[in-house]
Formats: sequence, structure tokens, C-alpha cells
Amino acid sequence: MTYSASAPGKVILFGEHAVVFGEPAIAAALDLRTRVDATESDTPRINGVPLRQETNPYPYHALSVTGSRSMSLTIDSDVPPGAGLGSSAALSVAAVGALGKDYSDAEVAESAFSVELLAQGRASPIDTSVSTHGRAIYVDRNGGSGLLWSVRRGDVTWHIHHVDVPAMDIVVGFTGISAATGPLVENVRRLHSKYSTARNAVVEIGTIAAEARRRLSTGDVVGLGSLMDRNQKLLVTLGVSSREIGSLIDAVRPYSYGAKLTGAGGGGSIISLTDRPERVAEAIAKRGFTPFICKLGGEGLRRENDG
Ligand code: MEV
Repeated sequence: MTYSASAPGKVILFGEHAVVFGEPAIAAALDLRTRVDATESDTPRINGVPLRQETNPYPYHALSVTGSRSMSLTIDSDVPPGAGLGSSAALSVAAVGALGKDYSDAEVAESAFSVELLAQGRASPIDTSVSTHGRAIYVDRNGGSGLLWSVRRGDVTWHIHHVDVPAMDIVVGFTGISAATGPLVENVRRLHSKYSTARNAVVEIGTIAAEARRRLSTGDVVGLGSLMDRNQKLLVTLGVSSREIGSLIDAVRPYSYGAKLTGAGGGGSIISLTDRPERVAEAIAKRGFTPFICKLGGEGLRRENDG
């Protein structure tokens, strides 16, 4: 018997890094997906190769978290790895969705978050929650309207809400540099524990994300663009931007309402909010980087069969 599931990549529109400390953030699913087929087997294999924790940490922990020892996984993905577009969350959600065939969406999101924590260290549940739910989510410290589920680790509780995102043109620009999320998150933790400027930046990013939620509901792209620019300046303060990210942002600025890095940074990708997506894509390509014109609000976890 083969159990199959697929899940989307994502962009963080506002609030990456600050969300790890419990601050508000907004993320949307993309129309790029990862598919996992899980088949019973004596020796666990990943795409035909015997499973090893060092080379396949996310599948390894997905098998252990779901208590599935004797399963092999076949993985197929169109989410570029290391681009800040949620490839590891899409893989974790699709793997847990295929292995935990009776899990509810809340259980998949919770277990896939455990997989990410085991594989990369500190994290928030934003990536795995948006990949499970699809469409778009708002994360904050309060329950309330649109609440999907809540996730607690240590003294932080994240409440995950559905949020509607209007049809907006988003262009992703990939630096081509893959940066591991774990060390970037750890470096922000170090700055946060040492410097009040970093602590203030984290709180201000949360304020921006909360304001962005209000502006999303009215489709105020001009206001959203200037919030993106402010969010980006604060991410620079947190040390997660890079020369390539700066160069991409300079390239898209003349044709964008706003632009910022998305995801962990350190390389990875930027997003531009624009009504001239082709012009922005051209500007990105001209500097030698890779553009993707994206549709936001992709479908969340999809099980191809219910076994
Ligand atoms: C990575 O996509 C987003 C971070 O905020 C880490 C996390 O929330 O797990 C940088």
C-alpha cells in the first residue's frame, strides 16, 4: 500500500525571525509543491537510497515522530531548496501527512513542527502551519477570530489563524545562495540576548506584522509596501540580510510598492510587491538572479489517497 501526500512551499510576507520569539507574522502558501509517497518496506529508503539521518534529517525525524519505522519515502519537489521558500516545511508536512494518515491538520502541523525542531534546532511553527493550512496565516500570541490551532513550546505559545490575502502580484528573487535556517535563527537569538537594539527590532517587526494584517484586509498595497521596506531595515539590524539581498532590493525598488527578504535570509530570496511583475522579473534577471512570479494562497496539505 502506498500513502501519498503533497504540501506547498511558502513566503513569509512579514515577521520572520521575530515570530520565533512569539511576535506576530504573516505567511502565504505558494503554488510550488512537494510530494511524498510512503510505502511499507523492511529497510527505510529515501528515493531508493538507504535512509541516513545526516543526509536526510527531515525524512529521518518524520519517520521517528510518526513512529513509522518500516516505511520508504519517494520525494519529488518543485520548491527550490535553501531559497527561503519553505522547502523543508513542505517536505516535513508532506512526509508527516503521508505517514500519519489519520492525523488531523492540527496534528500534522504540530508533528511537522517537531520534525523541524529536531532537524534544525530553534524554529517557530509558521512554516509548517502555512504549508499544512495553505492559503495564508497570521500568527500571534492571542486566540480569537479565524483561529486554526495553537502550538506551545517552552514559554511561547503561537496561535495560528486563517487570514485572507487579496490577489496581489508577488515576485520572488532568488540570490542562488542557500543558507541554512538553524544557524541564522541561532545568531538572532544571540543578538537578542545581548543587545537591546535587537530586542527592540524584534518587537517593532511584530508591530509591523500586526499593522500589515489590517492593511491586507483593505488591500492597501501602498501601505503594505512601505511596511515591507520598514520590516527589511529591521531585518538588516538583526544581521540576516546580505550583499546579494541588498543588490536584489535595489534592482526591484523602482518598480515595487515595497521589497524585503523572505524566510531566514543570509542568502535565500527577496519578495517584491508590485503591479509590474514582468518588469520586476526582468530587473532581477538583469542582475544575474532568478525570478519567480508567484501566485499566493496555494492549497495546503493534500492527501492523494486515504489508505
Ligand atoms: C524561516 O522561514 C522563518 C524563521 O522565522 C524561522 C522560523 O520561524 O522557524 C526565520
